[in-house]
Amino acid sequence: MKTERHWQREIDRVLITEEQIARRVRHLTRQLQREFAGRDLVIVSLLNGTVMFLADLVRHLSLPLRLDFIGVSSYGAGTESGELVFTKQLRLDVRGRDVLVVDDILDTGKTLKRVLGVLREHKPRRIKVCVLLEKKARRTEKVRADYVGFQIPDLFVVGYGLDYAERYRNLPFVGVLKPEAYEFGNREAGKENIS
Ligand code: IMP
Ligand code: MG
Repeated sequence: MKTERHWQREIDRVLITEEQIARRVRHLTRQLQREFAGRDLVIVSLLNGTVMFLADLVRHLSLPLRLDFIGVSSYGAGTESGELVFTKQLRLDVRGRDVLVVDDILDTGKTLKRVLGVLREHKPRRIKVCVLLEKKARRTEKVRADYVGFQIPDLFVVGYGLDYAERYRNLPFVGVLKPEAYEFGNREAGKENIS
C-alpha cells in the first residue's frame, strides 16, 4: 500500500502493532467495566494525545458515564517536556464522583502530577489513572497509574495519538522514529509540544 511506504521512510520500527493495541485495549475496557460498575463515572481525558486510545477504550464500555477533557501543553524543545500550560479547563462537576483520568503516556510524571493536583481540588470521590504507555525509567515524580496498556523502554515513540512536533498522531501503531525524522521536526517551527 502506498501509505505504508510513506511511513516506512520515517518510522524505524513498529514497537506495538495495531492488533496488539486492540487486544490490550479490549482487556483494559473489561477491567474498567468491573471497576466502575454502579459508580457515577466521569472520564477526564488529556488532550491531544489520547484521541485514539480514548475512542477505542470507551466505545465498548457499557457503563453510564460522562466525558470531559483537560488540555495541557508542555512548551519545550524537541522530545523534552518543558513548562506546563493549561489550554482547556475541566467543565464537568466531579465532586463526589468517580474520576478516571486517561492519558497517552506516563513519562516523567510531571503532567499527571499537575493534573491530579487540580482534580483533587474539585473533591471527587476517588481518582483512578489509565495510561496507554508507561516509561518507568524516566519517572521523576511520585505518581502511579492504576491501569497501564504497555510498559515501554526509554524510547521516544509516536503514533496512535502520540506526536513528535504535532506529527504522526494518525499512525495506527506505536512506533519509533528514524533519527532523520527528528531532524525534520526540529527544523519545523513547532517547538511547541502539545500533550
Ligand atoms: P510527562 O509529563 O513527562 O509524564 O510526559 C507526559 C507527556 O509528554 C505525554 O502526555 C506526551 O505528550 C509527552 N511524551 C512523553 N514521552 C513521549 C513519547 O515517547 N512520545 C510522544 N510524546 C511523549
Ligand atoms: Mg506530545
